[in-house]
Amino acid sequence: EKGGYEHFMLKEIFEQPRSILDSMRGRMIAESNHLMMSGIREFENKFVNANRIIIVACGTSWHAGLVAEYLIEDLARIPVEVEYASEFRYRNPILNEKDIVIAISQSGETADTLAAIELAKSKGATIFGICNVVGSSIARATDAGAYTHAGPEIGVASTKAFTAQVTVLTLIAMIIGSKRGTLETTKLHELMVELETIPSKVEEALQLNDQIIKIAEQYKDVANCIYLGRGYNFPVALEGALKLKEISYIHAEGYPAAEMKHGPIALIDEQMPVVVIATKDSSYEKVVSNVQEVKARKGKVIAIVTEGDTTIPAMADHVIEIPETSEHLMPLLSVIPLQLLSYHIAVMRGCNVDQPRNLAKSVTVE
Ligand code: F6R
Repeated sequence: EKGGYEHFMLKEIFEQPRSILDSMRGRMIAESNHLMMSGIREFENKFVNANRIIIVACGTSWHAGLVAEYLIEDLARIPVEVEYASEFRYRNPILNEKDIVIAISQSGETADTLAAIELAKSKGATIFGICNVVGSSIARATDAGAYTHAGPEIGVASTKAFTAQVTVLTLIAMIIGSKRGTLETTKLHELMVELETIPSKVEEALQLNDQIIKIAEQYKDVANCIYLGRGYNFPVALEGALKLKEISYIHAEGYPAAEMKHGPIALIDEQMPVVVIATKDSSYEKVVSNVQEVKARKGKVIAIVTEGDTTIPAMADHVIEIPETSEHLMPLLSVIPLQLLSYHIAVMRGCNVDQPRNLAKSVTVE
């Protein structure tokens, strides 16, 4: 049932070229400019005229929501707020009929997310769900939605569900952007073509596995780890840190790279590994400076870079090269080495990666 893999988590990491493809199948064909999602079509006018989009979720799904904030604001120019469902539900939030709430949940059973939906409904907002489990409570509680087609996720640490969520949210941002006229046709077409190449680029990123095992061997005994990223890679830094914490029990924190100098930089010494996502995008030059700041304090830099980069490799202790893509789609690639790094470190520490201590696959109590 683990398909020859030692753990479900590893199997699910390796399934991502397929699960990403399955999440866009039938919804997008670049060659014929086909871009359609039945759940959106019904509510197209609502989306096009929305005042605001509020995303509610927990954990890894909340990180996918953060990626969506960048995507929807950039491509569709609608203000987006991303909320922890547990905070939103108790905050007496300001909501009305012109707001759309997008709830993201792999299991579709997360108690806080479900309660946030009920609250938003009572205030008249339209609720759109993105769930992986068909017929789940959240899928049933929403006005409309789109399933991620990641297939069953057994490992407690979410991997393929995250990339499936980001894929579906990318399609949604592209659809709303094109309907609103904020995403021009040529740019839309370029993104569609690029999105179609992502499954094979994920496949390439998975080939880094052996290289990542060697890095994991060197860092498996650390007590702390920092993850840095900016722009589209900031949520990926948070997700990388969460993956490491939950399965290896190493204390890890993710930050927007520039925020480091406002406090976390005090933690950096020659013992501290700093994983930096430094791919070629609009914040690349800024991240180069952040890497210099870490090296000046003798931190150990593990850098995720775009293939062919020479600047960061000259400074970093370890370099992991991933394929080039549009910055809008980069989280789908940059998260892969971070999933593998956490997995291997956890296995080397003898942890139960599929069922980490204190965690359950779906959190049905608040
Ligand atoms: C992280 C993880 C959790 C879930 C969170 C939300 O690997 O598994 O943080 O992402 O409990 O779960 P869903 O998406 O089922 O609502």
